[in-house]
Amino acid sequence: MAQQGSCTVVVGCQWGDEGKGKIVDVLAEDVDIVARYQGGANAGHTVHVGEDEFILHQIPSGILHEGKRCLLGNGVVLDITRFFEEYDVLVSRGVDVEGRIGVSRRAQLLLPYHRLLDQATEESADVKIGTTGRGIGPAYEDKTGRRGVRVVDLANTERLQRAVEQAKARVCMRIGELGARVSDDLDRAMEEALGLGGRLLALATDTGPEISQALREGRRVLLEGAQGTALDLDHGTYPFVTSSNTTAAGAATGTGIGPTAIDAVVGVVKAYTTRVGEGPLPTAFEPEMDERVRVLGGEYGATTGRPRRCGWFDSVITRHAAQVNGLTGLAVTKLDVLDTLDELKVATAYRMPDGSLTERFPADTWSLTAVEPVYENLPGWEASTAEVLRLEDLPANARAYLDRIEELTGTAVQWVSVGTRRSQIIPVG
Ligand code: IMP
Ligand code: MG
Repeated sequence: MAQQGSCTVVVGCQWGDEGKGKIVDVLAEDVDIVARYQGGANAGHTVHVGEDEFILHQIPSGILHEGKRCLLGNGVVLDITRFFEEYDVLVSRGVDVEGRIGVSRRAQLLLPYHRLLDQATEESADVKIGTTGRGIGPAYEDKTGRRGVRVVDLANTERLQRAVEQAKARVCMRIGELGARVSDDLDRAMEEALGLGGRLLALATDTGPEISQALREGRRVLLEGAQGTALDLDHGTYPFVTSSNTTAAGAATGTGIGPTAIDAVVGVVKAYTTRVGEGPLPTAFEPEMDERVRVLGGEYGATTGRPRRCGWFDSVITRHAAQVNGLTGLAVTKLDVLDTLDELKVATAYRMPDGSLTERFPADTWSLTAVEPVYENLPGWEASTAEVLRLEDLPANARAYLDRIEELTGTAVQWVSVGTRRSQIIPVG
C-alpha cells in the first residue's frame, strides 16, 4: 500500500545548537510522531513554552505537545539513567508522557562505563575533541565493534550480565592504560542503570515498522536530528565531530525506514555561526565581537554550559549542508540576535592556504584552520525584530539578509525565528 502520510526530517546545518528543538517544537503541532534518530544525551534542545523552559537531551522535543508519540530510534545511544531522569522531570512538571514514549529494541545502551572512558580518553588525548563527556564516542565504538548491548538484551538477564561484565572489564582495562582511575562509583552507577532495565523494556518498540505503518495510515512523522552537519561523522570536520550520522540520510538508518519514505528535509541554520568544543571555525569573530554576540545570543552550551565560539554566517558550510542533506527548505533562527549590528558579513568562499579559491567545503579539516573566508558585507537593520509576526514586516535589510542566505545556499527560507517563544517563529510564504 502506498504511503499516505508525510515524513519530514529536521537537521542542523552548522555545528549544532541551531535551534532545532524550537523548530521541531513548532512543526510538531502538525504531526503525529516525532522520532530521534542518532546521538544521545550529548544533545541539548532548549524549548520555551509560555514562561517555562525545558532542556531536552534524549526525549524528542515533540513531547511538549499533548498526545504526540515520541520515539528514540535504533541509531540512538540511549543513556538509560539520564533518560529516566529526564522522563521523571517531565512527569514532575506536569507533562503527560503515559504511553507516548517508545524506544527502539535495537537502540544501543550507553552505560556508565562509556562516560568514564569518554572522559579518560579526552584527558589523555594529544588532539582533544572537546566532547560533551557523555560517553557518546565509546558507546558508538562498542556498536561498530559489534560488542554493544542493546535495549532488547535487557530481556535476557543472563546474556545481559555476561555482556556487561565483559564490556566493563574491557573498559576498565582501557582506562587503566590511559593512566586514569576507575571511579569507586561505577558499580553503584551500573546497578542503578541496569535496575531501570524493566522500565525501559516496557517502552520497547520496533521504530521502523511503527513509523512505516503510521505513514501508510496517513499519519505525519517528524524525524529530529541532533547536533549538526559539520559534526557528522562522515561529512563534518573530522575528527572534530560526533560519532554518528547527524545528516538526513541518518534519519532512515537511525529509525529503520527506507530513504524513499522521506518527503522533505528542513535544514536549521542560525543567522550567524557558533561552535562548542574543539576544531576549526573559519568565520570566527575577533574577541570583542565574539563576546558581544555570545552575550546577545546567550551562546552557552545547553548540555555542558561551555561558552560557544561565535562567527559570521558561513555559506560554504551551509551549501555543503544543503547538498549532503538534500534540503528542501531552510529555517533561519536567532535573526533578532543581529538586530543591533550596523554591518554584517557573510562568507561566500574560502581562500585556501595555497592561494586558490573554493566555494566547496574542503575535506581536509586541518586546512580549515588556515583558510581565509571571502566576505561580502551587508548593511545591518538596527531595529528590533522580536515582535515581528510576518515576513513582510521585517526591516528591508533583514529581508535582504535572508534573501542573500537563500541565494547562497540555493534553498528557500521557510521559517525565521526572532525569539524563543512559539509565536516568534515566522512562517514564510
Ligand atoms: P560528543 O558528541 O560528546 O562526542 O562530542 C563531539 C563534538 O560534538 C564536540 O565538539 C561537542 O562539543 C560537539 N557536540 C556534541 N553534541 C553537541 C550538541 O548537541 N550541540 C553542539 N555541539 C555538540
Ligand atoms: Mg544544543
